[in-house]
Amino acid sequence: MGSGVTAPVAIVTGANSGIGLETALGLAERGLRVVATARDLSRGAEAVAEIERRTGKTVDLLRLDLASFASIREFAATVLDRYPRIDALIHNAGLAPSGHRWETQEGFEAAFGVNHLGPFLLTSLLRDRIVASAPARIVIVSSGAYRAAPNGICFDDLQHRETFHSLQVYAESKLANIYFMHILARQLDGTGVTVNAVNPGYVATQLGRPREADLARAVAMPRDESASNGALANLPEPMTPARGAIPSIRLATDEELATTTGVYFDRTRPGTLTPIAADLDLARRLWDESVRLLARHPAH
Ligand SMILES: NC(=O)c1ccc[n+]([C@@H]2O[C@H](COP(=O)([O-])OP(=O)(O)OC[C@H]3O[C@@H](n4cnc5c(N)ncnc54)[C@H](OP(=O)(O)O)[C@@H]3O)[C@@H](O)[C@H]2O)c1
Repeated sequence: MGSGVTAPVAIVTGANSGIGLETALGLAERGLRVVATARDLSRGAEAVAEIERRTGKTVDLLRLDLASFASIREFAATVLDRYPRIDALIHNAGLAPSGHRWETQEGFEAAFGVNHLGPFLLTSLLRDRIVASAPARIVIVSSGAYRAAPNGICFDDLQHRETFHSLQVYAESKLANIYFMHILARQLDGTGVTVNAVNPGYVATQLGRPREADLARAVAMPRDESASNGALANLPEPMTPARGAIPSIRLATDEELATTTGVYFDRTRPGTLTPIAADLDLARRLWDESVRLLARHPAH
């Protein structure tokens, strides 16, 4: 595949499972050329085969591990080489720690690294191509769980080396998604690139199930028992991944939303943010801190 691509191109991260798989499927059905990412290519190939069988469309698959800057840089270089345009970037991949603190290749706490800093780096690498492709859309899959960090992001212990609670770090990473959306949307204002964040709702997926590869990287710290104490026990019945994907698909394709930007969606409607999540000074602080952290790990 190369410069012969004529359909609009949509990148969906974490497309081998859950909401991402159904988002990729929905976008392929709507005629977009989907670039599905997976960190495990064999599981990615299974998902792509399923999407192709169900849609009759061709889907591309590329490896992307958001816990590794080298992988993110390699992925971005491949995308820039193969795709002359990027019409939609769906930051869907994410993890919810299940009791164990582990670190990305560069030593960042996993939820912060995979859910926030990795997508931050990836966006910066693809940004010029996305702007050149305008009108284009960036969709950031956040979560209503951001409210579980009522005091906001713990800037004094951003990597949670002092205290680690699974729900807290997940909530902070999903708040970071909202902060990222606020600033990126403002920076891209007037370019024709929209940036929105979305809470897909409570969806039955693999989220929160420990992956062997991640457990192998757990760093020595007591297990956080709060992960299994039923913190999420009072939630209603989860919806199917296909329903969970509707908001992302809509944000990426709906003509009615062509100029909507800088908005946090609660499923398909604009949602109300807590004052902390709406605080642009805190959003800028996280942006500046993220730039500083990335600068410590330049490309070789
Ligand atoms: N499910 C819910 O109720 C819910 C609610 C609100 C928000 N969300 C958000 O929805 C998004 C999708 O989650 P999901 O519920 O569909 O869960 P999921 O089934 O676990 O899918 C998560 C996807 O992210 C990928 N991923 C995890 N770590 C990665 C890494 N280091 N590099 C690249 N990809 C990685 C996973 O790959 P592997 O399969 O290889 O691990 C998988 O493809 C997440 O951002 C999540 O925070 C979910």
